[in-house]
Amino acid sequence: MSAFATTATAAIDALVQPHLLDLQPYATARHEFAGTAEVYLDANESPFNTALNRYPDPAQKDLRTEIALQKGLRLEQVFTGQGSDEAIDLLTRLCCRPGKDEVIVCPPTYGVYAIAARLQQAKVVEVPLTADFQLDVASILAASSANSKILWLCSPNNPTGNLMEEAAILELLRAFPGLVVVDEAYIDFAQSKSWSSVLADFPRLVVLQTLSKGWGLAALRLGMAFAHPRLIELLQRIKSPYNLSGPSQQTALERLQNATETHKQIDLLVAERQQLATDLSQLPSVLQVYPSQANFLLVRFQNARATYELLLQNGILVRDRSTVPGCNGCLRISIGTPTENQKLLQILLQA
Ligand SMILES: Cc1ncc(COP(=O)(O)O)c(C=O)c1O
Repeated sequence: MSAFATTATAAIDALVQPHLLDLQPYATARHEFAGTAEVYLDANESPFNTALNRYPDPAQKDLRTEIALQKGLRLEQVFTGQGSDEAIDLLTRLCCRPGKDEVIVCPPTYGVYAIAARLQQAKVVEVPLTADFQLDVASILAASSANSKILWLCSPNNPTGNLMEEAAILELLRAFPGLVVVDEAYIDFAQSKSWSSVLADFPRLVVLQTLSKGWGLAALRLGMAFAHPRLIELLQRIKSPYNLSGPSQQTALERLQNATETHKQIDLLVAERQQLATDLSQLPSVLQVYPSQANFLLVRFQNARATYELLLQNGILVRDRSTVPGCNGCLRISIGTPTENQKLLQILLQA
């Protein structure tokens, strides 16, 4: 092992709950045997072929290999789980000692980071985004301590839609003492390269992505974490053995290998986002449409609650964020099909 690799592993191990460092994971029946057998009588499965009677690959090797190939990473840098929500939960449980450790979140942002921390009895330290929804680097660093195990960043951010400035993330990667997680759930809609391209430089960096948004597979529950191999190894160790079903692994693999339709859909949604932003900004009831690099728009209305109700009466559900600090008077509107977006605009013309 090179000196860098040793230091990187030590830096990661220092952030992990000590009792998990030598946890022996459950060894599935197939762990001990990598080849193929003629008859499988080792796992108490049903012998009758239903196409679903065998346990799936607990290490998800084929899927992770394909993801690694597409992302320019190595298999050992890729974790796959039940949505990025599973990775958020596992990272929190891996690192945070109940009652002792803390995570830093930058609201307004995705709510699951704080919920995962509370489930683990970790303290949630909030350092709000600035008025233009950027990271307040100085306050984040001032709020951090030796017990700050995870800093949750979301770029493009939910619900604001903007990317975080590169210089701010770089500064945090250098100075924050814990894991820096960049959640890129909406990266497929953004004009930006993934932070996974600098994983080799920052052993405490974790990047999250998902097939739930641009890939149109929210029901599949397929999320990814990209990180240093040591961290991936630890996540693999604490996950439940068969966290991804066979059909999920298979469907995800097929979709990743046949991405033409997905790319077309993403292009269409990005074009619709631009058009909808322009059209919305001309409506009298709209005060502000925030720039978005995601598949939704954060929109400030003169009367958000009344607008929400009006849309609902006309069969359109949007997300009311009007009481979230930093998002006063705002609704978050996902980009729909061109027909759906037109319907939305027509109803808003009445507001
Ligand atoms: C920022 C962000 N991260 C993660 C997720 C969860 O994604 P998944 O469906 O992969 O669990 C969401 C879902 O809305 C999200 O907005």
